[in-house]
Parts: sequence; structure tokens; C-alpha cells
Amino acid sequence: MSEENQPRSLTPYICGLILIGGLAALPFVLPPDGVERASIAQFFGRLHPAIVHLPIGLLVLVPLFEVLGLVSIWSHLQKSAGFVLGLATIGVLVATVAGWLLAWSGGYQGETVMNHLWGGIATSGACLMLVAFRQVYKSREGLVLIRLGYIPLLFATVGAMAWTSHQGSIITHGDDYLTKHMPASLRKFLGVPLTPPPAAKTTGTSLFATQIAPIFEKNCVACHKPSKHKGNLRMDTYALLMEGGDSGPPVVAGSLEKSDLYRRITLPADDEEFMPTDGKPALTHAEIKLIADWITAGAQP
Ligand code: HEC
Repeated sequence: MSEENQPRSLTPYICGLILIGGLAALPFVLPPDGVERASIAQFFGRLHPAIVHLPIGLLVLVPLFEVLGLVSIWSHLQKSAGFVLGLATIGVLVATVAGWLLAWSGGYQGETVMNHLWGGIATSGACLMLVAFRQVYKSREGLVLIRLGYIPLLFATVGAMAWTSHQGSIITHGDDYLTKHMPASLRKFLGVPLTPPPAAKTTGTSLFATQIAPIFEKNCVACHKPSKHKGNLRMDTYALLMEGGDSGPPVVAGSLEKSDLYRRITLPADDEEFMPTDGKPALTHAEIKLIADWITAGAQP
């Protein structure tokens, strides 16, 4: 009796199911909610961008090895495919957990962050399935559906990973990073809109547009933007700034005392509520004066 014909142990399957169930529970139990947590969690979370590219590179090799390996002179490649898939799966799992840790502890929130997280979880689940499917694919036994399903699932997994990576790049670089310098002809061919989706840049000749918005852009928007709105406050448009966050409108026209934003930028730099946080350089006196003048004069757009 060859090893193939032995009844397979269920333990690896059960472990895989528990693993993927645990991962899928994370966004519900400990969701990224914009709150910053223990710095040790952030330390490990920040390894995510450093390690994530390794499993990406490994996973794209798997279909290459499997498909090229069908040609007889390259058949040795198929022998490595299972090993590379195993390494890629471990890498995807580690990168996904680190990514969740970064999002949960680093004050991230919002739709793109959730898309990215769910993409990572789906890719992890698909990789574990691939490992199981490949056993059946390689043996001549087992469900035909699984044997035939392995290669399509492999390509679908690479696709899911590509989509997930793109969500990640939107978080880091903004949503027009890939297309910003795309030649006009290619843009037209691919149907990418000529003007990138409104980057919510404030334009005009008002005091706000020319002096105040650039200060916010330089010092505040990094933490108060769609994918990362700390304290639920967005500062990338006038309307959203005036709407405010968890503690209501931060700017009250005409009143410096009632404007939480002004209070925060003028606190002592070591105060917990001082803005910008995280040891980012404080606004200059000239900048604070401009903001004070703008609020006193009615905080017009
Ligand atoms: C490094 C990230 C970071 C930067 C940069 C930053 N903030 Fe914040 N901001 C936070 C965090 C975190 C909170 C939520 C915790 C809190 O309320 O103190 C917050 C909350 C706020 C709030 C209160 C929102 C609410 O409704 O509770 C205001 C107002 C604010 N920031 C203004 C600013 C201004 C003005 C700047 C630029 C000068 C700025 N922030 C730059 C991280 C940042």
C-alpha cells in the first residue's frame, strides 16, 4: 500500500480551519477603530510593510512553476512549486496578522483599511485551501473537482492578492499613485479619468485656500484623512473640518476659546492633547497667528 492510499489524517485540515476562523474573527472582535494602542503592538505591526513583499514574490512564482512545469524540459520546476507554496502561505499568514496588528494598534480605520484587511484574510484562506488542494492535485486520487480546481484557484488567489496589495498601496500612497504620471494615451485606453479623482485640494483665493489649508495639508492631514481619520476628524476638506469629529466641530467661527483646534495647537507640546501628536513638529508662531486670524475673522472657506 503506497502512502497515497493511506487514509489522511484530519488534523491539518482542522488546524487550517481554526486558523482561518481566528483570522476572520479579528475584524469583528478587535477591529481597526482609529484608536492608537500599546507601542509594543505598533512595533510589531510596523513590520507589516517590511515583510509583506516577500510572500507576494513567492506566491507569483507558484503558478509560474506549475504551468512551466507542465513542459517536459522544465518538469523539475513542478517539484519546487509545493515548497514555494508552503513558504508563501506561511508568509501570507504572518503578513496578514502583522497587518491587522498595525491597523488595530496604529489608529487606522475606514473603508480602504477594511478592504485591505479582508483581502489579506481572504488571501490567507485561499493559500491554506491551495495547500490542501495541491495534495489532491498531485495524487491521482480524490475528488475530480478539487483536482481540476487547483489551477483556477491558484490564479484566483494571485488575483485576490494583487487586489489586496493595491488597497494597501492606496493607504500608503493615495489612490492616484499608480496613475498620476500615466501617459495620456494609455489613460484613454484604460479609461482612467483624466483628472484624478478630486484629491479634495482646496482651491481659490480666500485666506483659507491660500494660507490655512496648506498648513493643515503639511501638518495635520496625514492623520486626519479618509483612510486614517484620528478622533474621527478629517481635515482634507473645509466642509469635513468644520463638521468635526468625536468632540464636535473643532473650529467655532469668531471664538478662539471655543475652538478645540486652536486650543490643541497652542497647548504645551508635551500635553496629551497637543496637535500634531507623535512628536511631529509644532506649528510655527506665524502659522498659529494665521489660524487665529482666520478663526477670529469668521473661519470662512
Ligand atoms: C501623528 C498623527 C496626528 C497628526 C499629525 C495630527 N493629529 Fe490631530 N489627532 C490625532 C489623534 C490620535 C487624535 C485623537 C486623540 C485625541 O483626541 O487627542 C486627534 C484628534 C484631533 C482633534 C480632536 C478631534 C475630535 O473631534 O475629537 C483635533 C481638533 C485635531 N486632532 C487637530 C489636529 C491639527 C490641527 C493637526 C495639525 C496641526 C493635527 N491634529 C495633526 C493624531 C494626529
